[in-house]
Amino acid sequence: MIGTAVEHLPVLLSQVLSFLRVKEGGIYVDCTQGLGGHSEEILLQLDGTGQLIALDRDQEALDTARQRLGSRFHNLQAFQENFKDLPNLLSRLEVGGVDGCLVDLGVSSHQLDSAERGFSFRLEGPIDMRMDTRQHTTAAQLLNQLPEEDLAGIFWRYGEEKAARKIATAIVGHRKLSPFRTTTDLAQIVEKVKGRTQRSIHPATLVFQALRIEVNQELAGLEEFLQQAISLLAPEGRLVVVSFHSLEDRIVKTVFRKEAGKCVCFQPAGLCACPRVERVRILTRKPVTPARQEIESNPRARSAKLRAVEKIETADS
Ligand SMILES: C[S@@+](CC[C@H](N)C(=O)[O-])C[C@H]1O[C@@H](n2cnc3c(N)ncnc32)[C@H](O)[C@@H]1O
Repeated sequence: MIGTAVEHLPVLLSQVLSFLRVKEGGIYVDCTQGLGGHSEEILLQLDGTGQLIALDRDQEALDTARQRLGSRFHNLQAFQENFKDLPNLLSRLEVGGVDGCLVDLGVSSHQLDSAERGFSFRLEGPIDMRMDTRQHTTAAQLLNQLPEEDLAGIFWRYGEEKAARKIATAIVGHRKLSPFRTTTDLAQIVEKVKGRTQRSIHPATLVFQALRIEVNQELAGLEEFLQQAISLLAPEGRLVVVSFHSLEDRIVKTVFRKEAGKCVCFQPAGLCACPRVERVRILTRKPVTPARQEIESNPRARSAKLRAVEKIETADS
């Protein structure tokens, strides 16, 4: 279990705040509260006014954030929810339009640093990887039960792992003798297939990332969620998304372009069937990435990309 002294370095913090543009009395949503690093700064900027609604699917993260923030901020409400259920949550809370919404995708440092959660090849623990432990399927179940081809597909699609097929074959060979139980079981198999190179990244990095994305279904429904989040914004409300994976960033970029009334099919003018309805203004022509100094002090920030949009007044807003 983690203590309150957990190190938490919110990624792209000043950029997130500058794009969110927190205003006094506003209603904000932190869709991925984690340890509450971004939440804390939003609450400080709200200065006792307005409201921050925070979500995470991980109860342990919420408990840790509550220990840090709960007694200091009366205008924070936190819920164990998948952000894909945000429209229902806001309607239960009778909240109409929100002034800002932050989505900081992926895994948190507390999840990676907790051996018993099984997210990391560096720490021995049960190979679990569920962000929401109420969920049934664990990474161990996938490793022990999925057909070889499906495993290879996951490693290739979500990890762009070049040795996906060989690794899947080795996994299936191994599990016939003894089922996968720990992170070390998997890390060792991958290392055996790929070998240890001098590069700083561990050979099992991409396989662990891919399995985590599959276990938590991180990409499923992301596009629909982003469209819904835009619908929930009040006029001039802002949606800020930080992603860590090229597939996520591509989804964010495409949704933002589509919602800004731009073409996303790239067909010639006469053939383009994009709706071209403008609901947002894009605030980041290119993704914002961390400066070298931030990456040096927090290597987990290295693949972060921030994109933001602002809602414009339309008939449905
Ligand atoms: C990168 S961390 C967020 C860190 C946080 N911004 C901070 O400053 O501490 C991502 C968090 O999002 C949560 N998460 C991922 N997918 C989610 C989803 N679909 N719904 C709710 N929470 C999710 C994870 O459990 C994790 O705690």
